[in-house]
Amino acid sequence: MASSRVDLDGNPIKPITICMIGAGGFIGSHLCEKLMSETPHSVLALDVYNDKIKHLLEPHTLPWASRIQFHRLNIKHDSRLEGLIKMSDLTINLAAICTPADYNTRPLDTIYSNFIDALPVVKYCSENNKRLIHFSTCEVYGKTIGSFLPKDSPLRQDPAYYVLKEDESPCIFGSIEKQRWSYACAKQLIERLVYAEGAENGLEFTIVRPFNWIGPRMDFIPGIDGPSEGVPRVLACFSNNLLRGEPLKLVDGGQSQRTFVYIKDAIEAVLLMIVGSHIQSFYATLYILSSDCRISSLNYYSCWMVQLNVNDNF
Ligand SMILES: NC(=O)c1ccc[n+]([C@@H]2O[C@H](COP(=O)([O-])OP(=O)(O)OC[C@H]3O[C@@H](n4cnc5c(N)ncnc54)[C@H](O)[C@@H]3O)[C@@H](O)[C@H]2O)c1
Repeated sequence: MASSRVDLDGNPIKPITICMIGAGGFIGSHLCEKLMSETPHSVLALDVYNDKIKHLLEPHTLPWASRIQFHRLNIKHDSRLEGLIKMSDLTINLAAICTPADYNTRPLDTIYSNFIDALPVVKYCSENNKRLIHFSTCEVYGKTIGSFLPKDSPLRQDPAYYVLKEDESPCIFGSIEKQRWSYACAKQLIERLVYAEGAENGLEFTIVRPFNWIGPRMDFIPGIDGPSEGVPRVLACFSNNLLRGEPLKLVDGGQSQRTFVYIKDAIEAVLLMIVGSHIQSFYATLYILSSDCRISSLNYYSCWMVQLNVNDNF
C-alpha cells in the first residue's frame, strides 16, 4: 500500500520526515492516517493530546510503527521544538485554538495560539531552511461588500458584491470590540509573517485556508465526549440539539451559508501539497480549499438540499 502512490511526475514518492504540529487534532489525525497507510513518509507527531491518533500509535506491531513517533509537547514552551523541526524535511503546523465559541470567550488565548505560539515555528523553519505548510483559515477573507447591503437588496445576488478576489479585494473585518474577529486577524497576521519570511529570507512555504472540513473526529458532543458546558462547531451543535430533542439553533434564522468539504477529500489535496514541493510553481503557494457547493445550515439538516451557488455571508 505504502509504495502505490507516485508523485506528480509519476515517479515513486521519496520518503521524507514530516514534523506535524497539532497532529492529535481533527485534521492531523486524518492526515496521519493517510500518510501511514498510503505513503512511505515518517511523521513526528507533536501535540498535547493524542486520543485521536491512539489507534495509529498502538499496538507497536502496526505496519507503520517505525514511521510514527508521538511527542507530547506544548509549543508555547518546549525547547524540543527546534530540534524536531531540524530533524524533519517538512513542517506542517495545524496547532491552534480554532473553535468559534473560543473566539468570543477566550480572545487572548485565540490570539496567542494563532499568532504568538506560531512565531517560533515560522522562525525555526526559516532559519533551518525547512519547508513549512501552515494552516490558516478562510476567515481571513473577512466580510463581503454585499453583507453591508440591505437584506432585500437585489445587488446581494450580484457576484461583484460577494466574489472575493485574492489579489484585489479589500479585507473587511469587524471592529475591535467584536471579539470573534480575533481569530481571523491573528491568522492573517501570521500569514503576512510567513509571506514576509518567504520574501525576505527565502522561506519555502504553503498556506492553506480551509473552509469547513467535516468528518469523523471533528468535534465533540457536550457532556458525552467533551465538557458539558463546551460549545462545539456548528454540525456538532446540531447533532447535540437532535440528540437532546431540542430545536436547532440557527445563525440568522437559517439564512447564513457555509461551505463544507469532506475531510477525506481535503486530505487528498493536502497530500498533493506535500508532493508538490518538487514542482517549482508550488514554491510559495496559497491554497484555498473549498467547493462551490454551499449548504445553508437550515437545509443541511432538514432536507439535505444542496444549493449550488457561491453566495457568501460571513
Ligand atoms: N477544521 C476545519 O474545518 C478548519 C477550518 C479552517 C481552518 N482550520 C485550521 O486548521 C488547523 C487544524 O484544525 P483542526 O480542525 O484539526 O483543529 P483541532 O483543534 O482539532 O486540532 C488542533 C490541535 O492542535 C493542538 N494544539 C493547540 N495548541 C497547541 C500547542 N500550544 N502545542 C501543541 N499542540 C497544540 C490541539 O491539542 C489540537 O489537537 C487549525 O490551524 C485551524 O485554524 C481548520
